[in-house]
Amino acid sequence: MNEWEALQAQCESCRACALCESRTHVVFGMGDPHAEVLFVGEAPGANEDEQGKPFVGRAGQLLDDMLTMIGLHRDRIYITNSIKCRPPQNRDPLNTEKDACAGYLHRQLEMMQPKIIVCLGRISAAEMIKPDFKITREHGQFFEKDGRLMTAIYHPAALLRDPSKKPETFVDLKRLQAKIREICPNTKLDF
Ligand code: URA
Repeated sequence: MNEWEALQAQCESCRACALCESRTHVVFGMGDPHAEVLFVGEAPGANEDEQGKPFVGRAGQLLDDMLTMIGLHRDRIYITNSIKCRPPQNRDPLNTEKDACAGYLHRQLEMMQPKIIVCLGRISAAEMIKPDFKITREHGQFFEKDGRLMTAIYHPAALLRDPSKKPETFVDLKRLQAKIREICPNTKLDF
């Protein structure tokens, strides 16, 4: 078992907070752990909890379409969430739950050393980029933090609720594509 698999195994048996009582599966993440680009969502929903994989519901289908638009595919990136277990009824995670879980994402970042982190939605951007992140004003911008390049785009669930945000997200995705071309030589983009 390599270091990544050991972390995954530890995470999948985690009992550090009460979410372990209500979860069906821990959602550690999926994709290529050696990827240069890491996508970070908020927390698993019902479908993800059921299947143990991130972004597998309607929002996940839209995320796949968004990746396809810029010539990417799930298996060439890594996708995870800041919280690895589903909060019941999709309520916001408590601070104690966030604190109990933070170490897993931290270790994933240390091991992956991604070149670009793409936050999906405001909550993830507030965790990863800055607490007062304004998704309506700052989506698509690139920020450098701890020597890493980070950006945030609208959460696919937000795009399902409000499709009028799709055109600006397309612009953000094209900027992301250009940045990947510029600094991620090992990330294959179709066409
Ligand atoms: N929303 C998220 O933020 N993450 C998932 O894995 C699914 C839906």
